[in-house]
Amino acid sequence: MATTTRWGILATGSIAHQFAQGLADADGAELIAVGSRSADKAEAFGREFAVPNRHGSYEALARDEDVDVVYIATPHPQHKPNALLCIAQGKAVLCEKPFTVNAGEAGEVVAAARDAGVFCMEAMWTRFLPALAETRRLIADGAIGDVRMVRADFGFRCDWDPQSRLLKADLGGGGLLDVGVYCVSLASMVFGGALPQRAAGLAAIGATGVDEQAGYVLDYGDGRLAVLASAVRTDTPKAAEILGTEGRIELAPPFFKSECLTLATGGKSRTIKAKLRGNGYNYQAEEVARCFAEGLAESPIMPLDETLTVMETLDTLRRQWNLSYPMESA
Ligand SMILES: NC(=O)c1ccc[n+]([C@@H]2O[C@H](COP(=O)([O-])OP(=O)(O)OC[C@H]3O[C@@H](n4cnc5c(N)ncnc54)[C@H](OP(=O)(O)O)[C@@H]3O)[C@@H](O)[C@H]2O)c1
Repeated sequence: MATTTRWGILATGSIAHQFAQGLADADGAELIAVGSRSADKAEAFGREFAVPNRHGSYEALARDEDVDVVYIATPHPQHKPNALLCIAQGKAVLCEKPFTVNAGEAGEVVAAARDAGVFCMEAMWTRFLPALAETRRLIADGAIGDVRMVRADFGFRCDWDPQSRLLKADLGGGGLLDVGVYCVSLASMVFGGALPQRAAGLAAIGATGVDEQAGYVLDYGDGRLAVLASAVRTDTPKAAEILGTEGRIELAPPFFKSECLTLATGGKSRTIKAKLRGNGYNYQAEEVARCFAEGLAESPIMPLDETLTVMETLDTLRRQWNLSYPMESA
């Protein structure tokens, strides 16, 4: 078993750069290859991060025998074909969020990975950060009693560019898939990964046909609720709170890369520091390495079944908003 995990990065955009920086701080990770639709971009990325194997196509990257695991950093609609390409070549996959555009696509990728016996995980990097690990520990220890509610928002105001990934329907634009997925995933983690019994929301659909902002409530049964909001044209506090019968946990904003949480119980509050090492993207890479070392085909912290339930929840909300993407009807 290799002690070093050899990474390939598929695509050379914004998050691909951040992940490459994160890998430099990940224990046991080596960035060995990059693949781009353009040979020039692969060259430039390769030079920037001293990546030895530079490929001018995703197919060549997927075939690279030096690579153990491919990190997929394309726009959402490309995740499914890119993941299937890598899995078909026997490569493990870490795929950016949202895992795919919808639950049907996610099911295809999960089935392919399981059939091939290949490791696969959604890159829900937030889950692996110290603050979220501490949150899980506090909840499991009963520090706030029974959890009754999760409140979270993730919204930012992007520039008005109808051709941008964030606003263009062809590229899977809109707030729910881009950042709402963090809120839904947080609620899912807190409530044990189950599919909500009900989901209800309202969205403001903008001129490009995608959700510019939305608010939604998920019902996890027994009166347990998640109250969530997301946006790509409205800046929100990016706060998250987990409210229990005996107290609450507040993740210092922005909650998806929080470095501090507050535990409030019995009229007192305590601050718990959870400083990040590196830029935060390193932790998910270390989780992949840990799973490899333990011979796991899936991460117990971000299981594929839970990725599927999260995608189903997003689908349920989009159906209520009559929001479907061009590639879904093709
Ligand atoms: N985890 C996080 O914090 C985080 C943050 C931002 C985004 N993301 C996720 O990462 C994914 C990529 O986001 P990004 O912000 O990095 O996007 P981006 O800057 O637009 O980069 C996307 C890259 O994908 C490749 N690509 C393949 N097909 C494409 C197409 N049809 N149109 C445009 N680009 C295409 C391009 O690389 P080549 O030209 O080299 O092939 C491009 O540079 C999204 O799914 C997003 O949700 C995650």
